[in-house]
Amino acid sequence: MTKELFQPSAAITSKAHITAAQYDALYQRSISDPDGFWGDMADRITWFKKPTKIKNTSFNAPVSIKWYEDGVLNAAYNCIDRHLPARANQTALIWEGDNPNESKHITYAQLKDEVSKLANALKARGVKKGDRVTIYMPMVPEATYAMLACARIGAVHSVVFGGFSPDSLKDRILDCDSNIVITADEGLRGGKKVPLKKNTDEALKSCPDVSTVIVLKRTGGDVAWNAKRDVWWHDIVDTQSTDCPCEEMNAEDPLFILYTSGSTGKPKGVLHTTGGYMVYTSLTHEWVFDYQPGEVYWCTADVGWVTGHSYIVYGPLANGATSLIFEGVPNYPDFSRFWQVVDKHKVNIFYTAPTAIRALLREGDEWVKKTSRSTLRILGSVGEPINHEAWMWYNAVVGEGRCPIVDTWWQTETGGHMITPLPGAVATKPGSATKPFFGVAPEIVDGEGHIMNGPCEGNLCIADAWPGMMRTVFRDHARFEQTYFSTFKGKYFTGDGCRRDDDGYYWITGRVDDVINVSGHRFGTAEIESAINEHDCVAESAVVGFPHDLKGQGIYAYVILNTGREPSEEMKKEIVQVVRKIIGPIATPDVIQWVSGLPKTRSGKIMRRILRKVAAGEIDSLGDTSTLADPAVVDELLKNRQTPT
Ligand code: WTA
Repeated sequence: MTKELFQPSAAITSKAHITAAQYDALYQRSISDPDGFWGDMADRITWFKKPTKIKNTSFNAPVSIKWYEDGVLNAAYNCIDRHLPARANQTALIWEGDNPNESKHITYAQLKDEVSKLANALKARGVKKGDRVTIYMPMVPEATYAMLACARIGAVHSVVFGGFSPDSLKDRILDCDSNIVITADEGLRGGKKVPLKKNTDEALKSCPDVSTVIVLKRTGGDVAWNAKRDVWWHDIVDTQSTDCPCEEMNAEDPLFILYTSGSTGKPKGVLHTTGGYMVYTSLTHEWVFDYQPGEVYWCTADVGWVTGHSYIVYGPLANGATSLIFEGVPNYPDFSRFWQVVDKHKVNIFYTAPTAIRALLREGDEWVKKTSRSTLRILGSVGEPINHEAWMWYNAVVGEGRCPIVDTWWQTETGGHMITPLPGAVATKPGSATKPFFGVAPEIVDGEGHIMNGPCEGNLCIADAWPGMMRTVFRDHARFEQTYFSTFKGKYFTGDGCRRDDDGYYWITGRVDDVINVSGHRFGTAEIESAINEHDCVAESAVVGFPHDLKGQGIYAYVILNTGREPSEEMKKEIVQVVRKIIGPIATPDVIQWVSGLPKTRSGKIMRRILRKVAAGEIDSLGDTSTLADPAVVDELLKNRQTPT
């Protein structure tokens, strides 16, 4: 498999931004002279004041990351205003509704008007530079307006994915101390309604400081109303002026907070700042997707995830691209939907997740083949390792062998692509994210932190800073240092395992910490356990991931009930409900196994390795169980093992 190589065609290489001949020298320069390289790259952004200092970073305590620190700019200005002279009438956003008969085009001129009106409305409600604004929206253009309106006035947005529960929304509002929420009456996905306003009302019962809720009318469904707090979007936005000056922001002023799960505790507020993030996302968007002027680019992610932030909104719009926003799902009204949208809007670049590819693959080729897809030029993958079968199908059936696949490895924390092919420069291998992007210095280390050279497998670290990386955990810099820089001193630890082959290609093997990746969504096992433990009858639980054909990983929960409580199917359903209520439906456990004890060491630490093996059905390779406090626990685990469906 590691020898299978796919070369880009002449059609791709002849006009690519970066060719194979350029890659090595440019990569060397980006590593040996970061100031020179990133100083040059800064020119792609419009600065109100050009930075004179480029890189000022340390991965050793006290960890401090600053890029372009004396530069002044505005992200919304870069995504909108600067394009107006040349592109006022070019489409900035294509919106494709959940209903295939609904779509619209928004030009850069219209985008400027819509964003400015909302920005003025926010200011009228008292929002100031540095304030946090929570956005809990469906995939409609207004979600993008909301992000850019915040950026325009220097407010910091915190987008919460619409699939999260009221509890999760509440935690995020409280953590970032936000007193304004932008939402909609209801969302629409796959023909089903999502009660966003109702969820917001529920969350706000515990958020007394929220004084304004701006509600977009999306479906017109009935919603409860708190006249002191709630305002309709159209009532406060439509009458505003279409002029709103862009706030002057320092390069290191915060742009947004995005919550993500780690191996311990509650989700943390990953903080991204303005200058480095804009340079990095616009550069990676242009070079990794080989974006050419006039092309239609579609990333199927939700703006509630980092992929939506960097590669639906900021990267593409900074490049004056046409970015498609999709409200729906891949299987509604039928399994042809993605490809119908590609044909309808003449999409050239298509970026999705392996879980979607796997779901469509198993429905057969006909759904794909009955569409043309002749406009497609580049395909992308993100969110989890892509298995060989899915890659081959994506390549041969969707892309008809002519579209390079960019398998982009990166994280919420990294802000943008880190290890990825460049279409015209790097031949691909199915399942490998291939080579590092410019300025990214991967290191693979063993358990003790020793750097390994040549072909090897171990823990993936990054040796030095890049402009798009997170700056801190919001209001918790100690947690930032602890989470990312303490496992292997002086290095950023990604939490991922990785293999490097003979050709220097990188193969991400998945998380090596207690994070599980379900359909490209990240959860900490501790987070799910703590939700399960909220059930009155639960004494203790342990959650692990197991290989799942469709989702990549599924959620397997081992649960101990309180003495006197009887296990039952009914009880399982209740536990599932608790998790859905506390985190959201996306964290629904696939399997619950009743146990009377967990495999613990004598010091009380759960041996998760054993739980993972049992869940995966690898019962012949449990390894050494002699250090367990009670080895008999393992017999019970095996006897009552549930076969995941
Ligand atoms: C995983 C999503 C393999 C990885 C952008 C990482 C991947 C986590 C890939 C981050 C890929 C993402 N190949 N694994 N191309 N892309 N991952 O923060 O485990 O939601 O650490 O960011 O997803 O997930 P996050």
